[in-house]
Amino acid sequence: MKATALAHPNIALVKYWGKRDDALILPHQSSLSLTLSPLSVTTTVEFGAASDQVELNGHTAKGSERDRVLRLLELVRAQAKADLGPAKVVSRGDFPMAAGLASSAAGFAALAVAGRAAAGLPSEPRAASILARMGSGSACRSVQGGFCEWQRGERPDGEDSFAVQRFDAAHWPDVRMVVAILDRGEKEVKSRDGMKLTVDTSPYYPAWVKDAEVEVVQVREHIAKRDLQALGELCERNAWRMHATSFAANPPLSYMSPGTLALILHLKEQRKKGIPVWFTLDAGPNPVLLTDAAHEVAAEALARACGAVDVIRCVPGGDAELKAEHLF
Ligand code: DP6
Repeated sequence: MKATALAHPNIALVKYWGKRDDALILPHQSSLSLTLSPLSVTTTVEFGAASDQVELNGHTAKGSERDRVLRLLELVRAQAKADLGPAKVVSRGDFPMAAGLASSAAGFAALAVAGRAAAGLPSEPRAASILARMGSGSACRSVQGGFCEWQRGERPDGEDSFAVQRFDAAHWPDVRMVVAILDRGEKEVKSRDGMKLTVDTSPYYPAWVKDAEVEVVQVREHIAKRDLQALGELCERNAWRMHATSFAANPPLSYMSPGTLALILHLKEQRKKGIPVWFTLDAGPNPVLLTDAAHEVAAEALARACGAVDVIRCVPGGDAELKAEHLF
């Protein structure tokens, strides 16, 4: 009745941006990401506790944060077809929230894997990915390592909307993602709200959906060939297009700060000097730089020169996994 799992965050190379079903968290388009090591979230779930308790990063979760965790465990109970009693959940991440790397992705992936194991359900990446998706969309891509593709699916019940691993972490050990933290502050508009506003009001949204679906197929080919330049160019274009949809929302929404723009424009100059470095950007001001092992130090240096207060260098990460040691 007790299990612990560790999962890594992921960064999308082709973003997920917008839901066709808000309750089931079903996306309008497919997306593809790279799982990031060494960052991780570890979560212990125990059913049969005295009462429901949720502790995240050392504080007792309240409100919607607590509700989202308990709702996911409700789905685990339904899958197990058993009254497992109240649950105690303790979760800890080893990277700053300010990194802007949706810690919810690693958190809900770890919760799904630990929750299923604590309920005695078998280890099944597909079932865990669907469950993680219902906590936070991008979490479905953190159940497995390497490069994972969240297939949008067609079914209204979401049973065909989950992530599959396209390439494992060993496929391209040389690839690097360097997180440039320009701003440690909380973002003003959460991804969930920003994407909803964009779907509802941006005239560019339908074009985004069409392009992203094509880009998922193209990005797979670039990764298969380990073609960093082609991947970098596609990854930047996809990030610009995602942000363009939000610029055109009503009211307009920009996740970029002046510092973000200065850094990402600077990359072009660096490439002319022979440094292979491109960016991607989630719903926040902190760019993540894509490069290779030979240039990660240079990528860190240029991020710092452009005002990064912290830099985290990441390599491809592995699958979410069960751990023998529990957090309580
Ligand atoms: C910009 O997965 O955090 O990081 O499904 O509402 O929980 P919810 O949203 P979330 O959104 C992530 C958006 C993104 C792009 C991506 O990771 O694909």
